[in-house]
Amino acid sequence: MRKIEHLGIAVKDLEKSNRLFERLLGKMYYKEETVDGEGVKTSFFMIGDTKIELLEATREESPIAKFLEKKSEGIHHIAFDVEDINKEVERLKMEGFEILNEIPKQGADNKLVVFLHPRSTNGVLVELCQDLNFKA
Ligand code: CO
Repeated sequence: MRKIEHLGIAVKDLEKSNRLFERLLGKMYYKEETVDGEGVKTSFFMIGDTKIELLEATREESPIAKFLEKKSEGIHHIAFDVEDINKEVERLKMEGFEILNEIPKQGADNKLVVFLHPRSTNGVLVELCQDLNFKA
């Protein structure tokens, strides 16, 4: 793993939270994107060479809706940038981590993503992401 690519924060109202984070960080978000497969609408803020991803549920069965129901708004996942996601999945399987989706799926921000189950990572939902822009 190379660096923290972004932190994901679950929010109830993306518009409101965009304004809040704009005031907090002193800058505008640089993109909004809906990922239909995941039932989320996201926005991204650049902060140094990493990012903050805000996530709002677009439907009731969305994992974000369930998270908000069970917990509350707050940090939802930590995402690590990886060079070769399939290789990293193999390595983490060997290390005994529980992989939620072994086949990488298309995530927001032009990434291939895999999630690890929080019960194998001290309660932290971990996302691996490989930038599709740099794929050979
Ligand atoms: Co993410």
